[in-house]
Amino acid sequence: MPHVTLLPFLLSALLLPHLTSGQSWSPSWNTTVPTCNTTTPLPTVNLTNHLALTPPMGWSSWNYFGPDINETLIKSTIDAMLTNGLHAAGYIYINLDDGWQRYKGRRSSHPLEVDPVKFPSGMKSLADYAHTHGFKLGIYSGPGEKTCAGYTGSAGHAREDAEMFASWGIDHLKYDSCCSHASAPQSEVQSVMLDMSTALLATDRGIVFHACHCGWTDIWTWAAEIGANQWRIGQDISDDFNYPGNREKYYFDVLDMLDRGANLTQYTGPGHWNDYDMLIVGLNGESKQLVGTGASNVEYRTHFSLWSIVCSPLLIGSDIRSLSAYDLATLTNSDIIALNQDPLGIPAELVAEVGETQIYAKEMADGSMGIALLNRGSATADVTMSPRRDLTIPWDVYKMRDLWKGKDLGPYDIPFTVEVQPHEARVYRMWKCAPA
Ligand SMILES: *[C@@H]1O[C@H](CO)[C@@H](O)[C@H](O)[C@H]1NC(C)=O
Ligand SMILES: *[C@@H]1O[C@H](CO)[C@@H](O)[C@H](O)[C@H]1NC(C)=O
Ligand SMILES: *[C@@H]1O[C@H](CO)[C@@H](O)[C@H](O)[C@H]1NC(C)=O
Ligand SMILES: *[C@@H]1O[C@H](CO)[C@@H](O)[C@H](O)[C@H]1NC(C)=O
Ligand SMILES: *[C@@H]1O[C@H](CO)[C@@H](O)[C@H](O)[C@H]1NC(C)=O
Repeated sequence: MPHVTLLPFLLSALLLPHLTSGQSWSPSWNTTVPTCNTTTPLPTVNLTNHLALTPPMGWSSWNYFGPDINETLIKSTIDAMLTNGLHAAGYIYINLDDGWQRYKGRRSSHPLEVDPVKFPSGMKSLADYAHTHGFKLGIYSGPGEKTCAGYTGSAGHAREDAEMFASWGIDHLKYDSCCSHASAPQSEVQSVMLDMSTALLATDRGIVFHACHCGWTDIWTWAAEIGANQWRIGQDISDDFNYPGNREKYYFDVLDMLDRGANLTQYTGPGHWNDYDMLIVGLNGESKQLVGTGASNVEYRTHFSLWSIVCSPLLIGSDIRSLSAYDLATLTNSDIIALNQDPLGIPAELVAEVGETQIYAKEMADGSMGIALLNRGSATADVTMSPRRDLTIPWDVYKMRDLWKGKDLGPYDIPFTVEVQPHEARVYRMWKCAPA
């Protein structure tokens, strides 16, 4: 983020939250919140860690395993990713979610320690294993007294915990407000997230910071300014492509998340990403953790295409060790991943809509365009894309590459039309041709 904007932001975040000198406020969850003070010095650290210049790619333990994680599982996941092509495709973050901690209960009653039964060799040893094999290790905590699954949180101990994570060699932190505090005021959430962000920066380790608050308090408008590299834009995803309404009045499905992000593209870019939540590809309704009945192969492929083209982090949430050949082919498509990892980091915009079909398009660093033609409906539909009309680019002659069929097409000098199956996204890369 441009640093010229930092000072006014910090002033408003730290000094103006409805308080005058000497007052304090009660947090809606049990954590230590710094007292507001009109003479509080601004942090002197540069709130930029220069990390996550493209969206983080890797695996997270939560969607399939929930808190039932351990050293054997993590090592076998790393080993599987080396042999099944996921590591080579760019998935390098191995992110432990909730459940690595030794104690359940409030932080004021327990220290934050690694569970010695689940992780007998300790976290430093696991980070070494990850690093030796070309991966990075992520960990999880939150600003509350307890985490979502009831383990000890970081409440009031951001500095101490950041130093501990750094000493283990941790590379990524998901810091989770636990999504049960929708009513928490923005200033309070900013305060606790800023505490951890500055603490991580102070370690000099280089730890990617995920400020997770389920898309509340308009977090996209401020998270980058406090040094977050990614933030969830919505509530937890369920294993559904298009569930009517919100499952359990809470969860977002694939299309809910896509729609939430549609107006937020201005907030995403290199080093700071809208996070559409972890991937559900390969869960097939079988997760012990996540609700949802699963999606079809085509729907999972569409989900992956959309997360890629909008530049969401790509964190696989299934059991890596038992992915089907189809799911592996989905997750390792290098043409699709290239849309996500393009150095410009420009997310796709919704550029056209006809009936239940939509066109998403993004600019790529080489001057080409990435395009997804999505059919949200339940009937097969023809979708027509015209560069001039839909993308407002003056390309009269162009060629296309079909990124799922791996076929080069064109050149064309007329609008491009293709039949799209229900819930399918046809994804292309398009280059301008010199007129013949
Ligand atoms: C917060 O702390 C108060 C007082 O210690 C306690 O009564 C309350 O149950 C705690 N709330 C949570 C969510 O832990
Ligand atoms: C306010 O900040 C000043 C300067 O850092 C400090 O001396 C003072 O003790 C603080 N007051 C409160 C109530 O925290
Ligand atoms: C702070 O970060 C900005 C943006 O990346 C960079 O240009 C600047 O050199 C950094 N300043 C310091 C003092 O590190
Ligand atoms: C490790 O976790 C996996 C997945 O939850 C489980 O199947 C396995 O039994 C656990 N192993 C040990 C040694 O606890
Ligand atoms: C995006 O914003 C426009 C203009 O404010 C609004 O009409 C549209 O419904 C929004 N789209 C979504 C998906 O929220």
